[in-house]
Amino acid sequence: MKIAISGKGGTGKTTISASLALSLAEDGFRVYAIDADPDANLASLLGIEEKVKPLAELEEIIKKKVGGEGGLFTLNPEVDDVLEDYAVDFKGIKFLQMGGIKKANSSCYCRENSFLKAVIDTLLFEKDEIVIMDMGAGIEHLTRGTSRGVDLMLVVCEPTVISMETAGNVKKLALEAGIPRVGFVGNKVKNEAEREFLTRNLPGEILALIPYDDLLLEKSLTGGQPLVTDKVKELLKQIEKIVG
Ligand SMILES: Nc1ncnc2c1ncn2[C@@H]1O[C@H](COP(=O)(O)OP(=O)(O)OP(=O)(O)O)[C@@H](O)[C@H]1O
Ligand SMILES: [Mg+2]
Repeated sequence: MKIAISGKGGTGKTTISASLALSLAEDGFRVYAIDADPDANLASLLGIEEKVKPLAELEEIIKKKVGGEGGLFTLNPEVDDVLEDYAVDFKGIKFLQMGGIKKANSSCYCRENSFLKAVIDTLLFEKDEIVIMDMGAGIEHLTRGTSRGVDLMLVVCEPTVISMETAGNVKKLALEAGIPRVGFVGNKVKNEAEREFLTRNLPGEILALIPYDDLLLEKSLTGGQPLVTDKVKELLKQIEKIVG
């Protein structure tokens, strides 16, 4: 099962990604947790204290795998060993930090992007583990080719009108990119009115509505892991129903 998590800034993507990964690992599943958000903080929500070097910054490895400066380079390098060597093992989770996709106007974007794409390809098409990918607000790490490997895009939304607009846009983008299923998670739901608002306005299948939790705000002020692990069990059940 391969799940990508996206949505508007600050809606709770990373909280939900970390909670899902930890819950699944706790239940004995083998899980890859991938931080594909350039503004990365999944590691700290998982509880990983060491500094993790982004794959995009493994310059020597990238050179070795993809090829040298200029000239010819390999579009589909073999990166299985990179996943083994650079994934951080933590509580039954293998964690990888992707780092930023380079834009076309930077000189070395081809090599690094080929490398990152090969990592995503390998994770999505060759690994048996569950893959949970925190995509951040964008889905740049997914191409038309890799999107087919994603079973489900979870779009995390807050009960606001603006969040509904973004939800519609992300859904459209995801479907255009070739992701077969898109499901919505309403987060930070404070009352019945917000529940109704989400139920009425989310543009597709709602997999869970997660209540607002004051403890999370407290933890984000005092440090510690703000998670909704107990609340994602229901979400996992829904995901299993549709992805199997
Ligand atoms: N159910 C919830 N109740 C209360 N606060 C929440 C809830 N879910 C997330 N938060 C809080 O909202 C803030 C943003 O959460 P998080 O970092 O997971 O969002 P994000 O979508 O990953 O943000 P970004 O777009 O910056 O990556 C955090 O302070 C988090 O603790
Ligand atoms: Mg985040």
